[in-house]
Amino acid sequence: MKVGFYGHVRQYHNVKDEIDKNISEVLESGSYVMGPMLSKFEEKLASYAGTKYAIGVGNGTDAIWLALMALGIGKGDEVITPANTFFATAEAIWIAGAKVVLVDCDPKTKCIDPNALEAAVTDKTKTAVPVHLYGHTANMKSIKDIADRHDLVLIEDNAQSIDGHGNGFRQAELSDAMTISFIIQKNLGCFGDGGAVVTNNSTVDREVRILRNHGSLKRDVHSFGYNSRLDDLQAGVLSAKLGHIIEWTDMRRKWAKRYSKGLSSCTSIELPYEAPGVRHVYHLYVVETKDASKRDSLLNYLKDAGIDAKTHYSIPIHLQTGYPWGKDAEIRGNLANVEKNAASCVSLPMYPELEAEEVDYVIEKVKEWDKDNS
Ligand SMILES: Cc1ncc(COP(=O)(O)O)c(C=O)c1O
Repeated sequence: MKVGFYGHVRQYHNVKDEIDKNISEVLESGSYVMGPMLSKFEEKLASYAGTKYAIGVGNGTDAIWLALMALGIGKGDEVITPANTFFATAEAIWIAGAKVVLVDCDPKTKCIDPNALEAAVTDKTKTAVPVHLYGHTANMKSIKDIADRHDLVLIEDNAQSIDGHGNGFRQAELSDAMTISFIIQKNLGCFGDGGAVVTNNSTVDREVRILRNHGSLKRDVHSFGYNSRLDDLQAGVLSAKLGHIIEWTDMRRKWAKRYSKGLSSCTSIELPYEAPGVRHVYHLYVVETKDASKRDSLLNYLKDAGIDAKTHYSIPIHLQTGYPWGKDAEIRGNLANVEKNAASCVSLPMYPELEAEEVDYVIEKVKEWDKDNS
């Protein structure tokens, strides 16, 4: 049997009629950029997120730096984020002109460790960008307390966890802005690149709208800005898909439960953790080998069995040689949890359209490997 890592085409076939209808509506309208389909999607997204505003932008990376700029963060400011995120989080802070300060993650949730965050605050710190990694919402209550104590603004990088929530709080409820990525492999993915900023802050809404469209809210009137818009065709795809996000998360959670039950007897791996009260949306189902030196052995065993497993992320940001270290970025504190995760993580196939036999086949192969390596 072969088990792929993504189910993009299966998902398209399941909602083809709704997607095709919206695409055709856009094509027939002749409005392909900043048209009515984009406005419709932005309204739908804000209503879904429970925020006053949603602004479609070119991708999830732009969403982060546009939000930072809209909040006035840039040169001379420090922005704290975890070192175990996708490279884009740090990159976006750097693009905005601020200094990237990397800290450790919580060993269980893999999201930013609030204690490490607070220890890294200096008088130059203006912002923290917690990341809802793998589908688990970060501990925003503790993070908000820290932000209030030190007068920081907060941006949630929610590229990976749309439809999740924390223990007693909604995503985007405790921050100044939340950013989303719609690249195809995300839980809500378009057919290419896309992103959004959602917020309750009218200044952020206005500034992102200006910045994303060449500094212009009105024809012929410009300040300096950029070109980072969500195309109407992608907005049409996302509009159709947004109506299914809850059922798709429920399917991800169902497969995660099946994996965790099936793998509970394994002694050589650790299974993903879900903190009480959190709706984990399992963007990724990441196991860790207890012995990091055996991670590649598990990965290769699965690949040889026809299972497309991956690593997220095997080289953490602070170990990337291409990063502009020095005045633009620095590590604060010990990154032991980040490094352990990077060395031992294996992501198993996870998407709503998986079949039970595929999940069971993956479980069988992981168990075989575990038996040989215990
Ligand atoms: C945590 C995180 N932040 C930011 C991004 C950037 O999003 P995009 O690829 O849409 O620019 C991604 C994904 O790609 C991500 O996983």
